[in-house]
Amino acid sequence: MNTPAEFVAWFRSVAPYINAFRGKTFVIGFSGEMVTNATFVDFIHDVNLLASLGVRLVLVHGARPQIQLRLDESQLETQTVMGMRVTDPAALQCVKESVGRVHHEIAALLSMGLPNSPMANAAIRVTSGNFVTACPYGVIQGIDLMHTGKVRKINAPAIHSRLEQGDVVLISPLGYSPTGEIFNLTMENVTSETAIALHAEKLILLLDNANTAALPRELTLPESKLLLENKTPATAAPIPDAIRSSLQYATKACELGVTRAHLVSRHIDGAIIQELFTHDGIGCMISQETLQALRKARIDDVGGILQLIEPLEAEGILVRRGRELLEIEIDRFTVFEHDGIILGCAALYPFPEEHACELACLAIHPDYRDQGHGERLLKHIENKTIAQGIHKLFVLTTHATHWFIEHGFNPATPAELPKAKQNLYNYQRRSKVLIKHL
Ligand SMILES: CC(C)(COP(=O)(O)OP(=O)(O)OC[C@H]1O[C@@H](n2cnc3c(N)ncnc32)[C@H](O)[C@@H]1OP(=O)(O)O)[C@@H](O)C(=O)NCCC(=O)NCCS
Repeated sequence: MNTPAEFVAWFRSVAPYINAFRGKTFVIGFSGEMVTNATFVDFIHDVNLLASLGVRLVLVHGARPQIQLRLDESQLETQTVMGMRVTDPAALQCVKESVGRVHHEIAALLSMGLPNSPMANAAIRVTSGNFVTACPYGVIQGIDLMHTGKVRKINAPAIHSRLEQGDVVLISPLGYSPTGEIFNLTMENVTSETAIALHAEKLILLLDNANTAALPRELTLPESKLLLENKTPATAAPIPDAIRSSLQYATKACELGVTRAHLVSRHIDGAIIQELFTHDGIGCMISQETLQALRKARIDDVGGILQLIEPLEAEGILVRRGRELLEIEIDRFTVFEHDGIILGCAALYPFPEEHACELACLAIHPDYRDQGHGERLLKHIENKTIAQGIHKLFVLTTHATHWFIEHGFNPATPAELPKAKQNLYNYQRRSKVLIKHL
C-alpha cells in the first residue's frame, strides 16, 4: 500500500467482513509446534485483533512437541498405534506438565498490553475450564491406549456463557472423565468437536504442513467427501497424508452444522487475517453449500452490479445506465454471485411481438474472467429465452464480437433488430449486432 488513498480503499474493503464477523463464534485450533515458533506472538496479535472486532473466540492448542521433549527428558519411551501415542500413567504425568506449561505461556501472551505494540489496551480476558469430557480410546490392535482418549462431550452452555461475557476461551488437549480420570486428546479432535457443539460459524485449523496449496481453495461438503474418498478425477493431486486428517475433521464439522471450516498454513504471516479478510483467502475453505450461484437479481444487488459495470461503462464497453434505471429494470437481471459478492451480471429484454430477446449488460469481473463464468451466464440467459417460447437472441456489442461468434452468434445488421430497438440504435456507437437462433 503506497498511498493514503490505497490505504483508505483497503480499509473500506474490509468493512463488510468486520460487520459479518461481529458476534460470530470462531474456533481456532493450532499445534504445539506453532507455539514454539518465534512468529507465534504475531498470531496472538491477530487473535487480539479478531477479539477487538467482536468475534467470539475459542482457541484450542496442541502440545505434541512439548510432550515429546518432556518424555525424552524423563527417558520415557511410548508406543504408538496407528499414529496415536499410548499414554501410560508415567507418560500422563509428562502430558499434564507439558500441556499446563504451554497453556500458561499462551495465556501470558494473550495478557500482554505493552504500549506501542498491537496489544496496547487489549485487556483480553482468557478463560479456561473443564469444558471437555473425554473417554478412553480403548484397545486398538490388541494394545490398550490407556490415557489416550477422545472427546465425549463439550460443555457448550458453559463456553457460551464465557463468550457472552466477552472472554476468549482457551482449551487444552486434555479431557476429564466422570470417573475423575484425565485423557490426552488431539488438538484436531477437540477443535472440531468444540466447533460442532457451539454451532460455530467458523472452524479454523492452522496446519503445520505448509503445502495447503495441494488443496483447492474452496470445497463444498460433497466435494470434500469425494476428495477424502479419492473419488476425484485421476488428474487431481492426491491429498498429502499430513492434511488428510485435518480435512476429515473439518469435513465432519461442516457436516454437523459448522457453517465453514478453513484449513490454513501456519507458516504464512497473518494467515488467519488473510484467510478471513480477503475474498479469495489463502487456504482451503470447506462450506456446507456451494458459494457460487446464478440467480435472479434483487433490489439490494443494485450496488454490487453498479460496482461491476461502472468501470466498463466508463471505458465505453457497456452502455451507461444509471442507478435509477437499474433499480427499475432489476427484474431483468441475472447475477453471478460468489460468497455474497456480485462477480457477474446479464440482462434479458424480451420483444414478444417480434419473437426476439435482447441479451444486454453481460459482464464478468476482470479478476474472474476466463473461468467459464461468462459462458455459464450466457447459457442461463439462453435457457430463459427458450423458456419464454422465444428462439431468437440478439446482442449489441463493441468489444466482445468474437466471444459471441465463438458462442454461436452470427453477425447481423441493425435492420434485423426488432423495430423498437432499431429506433434506439445508436449509430455513433456503431455496436456490432449479433443474433443467435436457439
Ligand atoms: C465477454 C465476457 C463476458 C466473457 O466472460 P468470461 O467469463 O471471461 O468468459 P468465458 O470464461 O466463458 O470465456 C473465456 C474465453 O473467451 C475469450 N474472450 C474473453 N473475452 C473476449 C473478447 N472480448 N473477445 C474475444 N474473446 C474473448 C477468452 O480469451 C477465453 O478464451 P479461451 O477459452 O480460448 O481461453 C467478459 O470478457 C466481459 O465481461 N467483458 C466486458 C463486457 C463485455 O464486453 N460484454 C459484452 C457486451 S454485452
